[in-house]
Amino acid sequence: MRKIQFFDTTLRDGEQTPGVNFNTKEKVQIALQLEKWGIDVIEAGFPIASPGDFEAVQSIAQQVKKMTVTGLARCQKKDIDRAHEALKDAVDPQIHVFLATSDVHMHYKLKMTREEVLASIKEHVSYARSLFEKVQFSPEDASRTEKDFLLEAVQTAIDAGATIINIPDTVGYSNPTEYGKIFKSLIENIRSDREIIFSSHCHDDLGMATANALAAIENGANRVEGTINGIGERAGNTALEEVALALAIRKDFYQCETPIILSETKRTSELISRLSGIPVPKNKAVVGDNAFAHESGIHQDGVLKNPETYEIITPTMVGVTQNSLPLGKLSGRHAFNAKLEELGYQFTDADSKEAFKRFKRLADKKKQITDKDLVALLADQSREETEAYKLAEVQVQYSSNGYQGAIVSIINEENETKVASKIGSGSIQAIYNTIDELFQQAPELTEYEIQALTGGEDAQAEVRVTLRDTQTKKEFRGIGVDFDVLHASAKAYVKASNQIASNR
Ligand code: KIV
Ligand code: ZN
Repeated sequence: MRKIQFFDTTLRDGEQTPGVNFNTKEKVQIALQLEKWGIDVIEAGFPIASPGDFEAVQSIAQQVKKMTVTGLARCQKKDIDRAHEALKDAVDPQIHVFLATSDVHMHYKLKMTREEVLASIKEHVSYARSLFEKVQFSPEDASRTEKDFLLEAVQTAIDAGATIINIPDTVGYSNPTEYGKIFKSLIENIRSDREIIFSSHCHDDLGMATANALAAIENGANRVEGTINGIGERAGNTALEEVALALAIRKDFYQCETPIILSETKRTSELISRLSGIPVPKNKAVVGDNAFAHESGIHQDGVLKNPETYEIITPTMVGVTQNSLPLGKLSGRHAFNAKLEELGYQFTDADSKEAFKRFKRLADKKKQITDKDLVALLADQSREETEAYKLAEVQVQYSSNGYQGAIVSIINEENETKVASKIGSGSIQAIYNTIDELFQQAPELTEYEIQALTGGEDAQAEVRVTLRDTQTKKEFRGIGVDFDVLHASAKAYVKASNQIASNR
């Protein structure tokens, strides 16, 4: 059977989702979970883009043992050098070089002629090949590139030393028939004395990213690129978990093997959702909470008689557990550490000590600590470590008739505290006005969502906010989890405010 390589770009294309900013520690945590999930190649970032991206690619390259680690580079020597520097400690490094080849991109964006584009591909892929054994080339906007020119660009990259050719449907314009044909035609027409891996890279603007990726595989692609939960620019990328399950459940049709450990799927999805701040829709294929819920009587009856009547994927297959061993007040360090390991966390001693302290505080208030509670607690901890200011205290004065008042204090690493007080028409507005005063910022609150993190009367509240910085026009997300709705709201807002401040 053909083996399909899985290439994850959650940390690069996925991080291009508005409002999503992972810190280095979170990126390493995600990388290690992706390794556990079975990913072959991780695109850890775009090293020239910022010092933060460089640092993350470098840290991942140093810590990942089994996956190939790649970094993105434009057709520019300085990009390739920066990627080389960031990836120098990787066990198996790869570079990903790209240049647009569609007429609209070449004419308006690059202001380059076809000849200049071909010359640049030749020069920069050759240069990349002088530094890397594995070179991947992407003709950006390939699906809207004139077919003969696409072949010419791809052949130029192969002749210059690329052994992996990725065909991006950059704007999510293609459809399965058309996208599949591009692969078939390129594979039939390229000349090479080395094995060339063809890779698919799709965006979901027309809702066809998964179908397009599968069409590419049917037509000879041996690598698929995408992100977890399909996060990414605009409508996002191919959701890798969907491709993995489609190839597994329909092995009879696709006749392909994948490296993916399916039972790690749900856990991987939850980690990305929490750290990105982007909730997984309940009806999302494969990982949504309702993916296995059978509501209608006819379906329930059928499933009870034989699950195969309506259930093509079982919850256990993707690692949906019943949380059979929730922790509680009496759970000790050993049980706690075992749970962290089971959840895929690899902590230093200091980090796990701090996590255990937080867990004990939570266990004082909540009878059963579920996996969801723990993942939220640990995400809070990792984010707070890199925040300039943490929420220290919130006081609200409530009046049923008139304005509400809030006093909020925040504290930094050096134990310096700032306190302010403001009013608002509601309690949350009063708190948010106060936090704006503390950070000396006035962002626009574009989203505010609240839900119970788990079931049960003692469930914690989870608040997600999105703030739009009116100066930079960028969006930032924050999640706050607490027993108290006002406190959770304040935490989420402080998190997003910290990101605005550090981004400026
Ligand atoms: O969508 C795209 O074209 C990309 C390239 C950089 C591969 O993400
Ligand atoms: Zn992309």
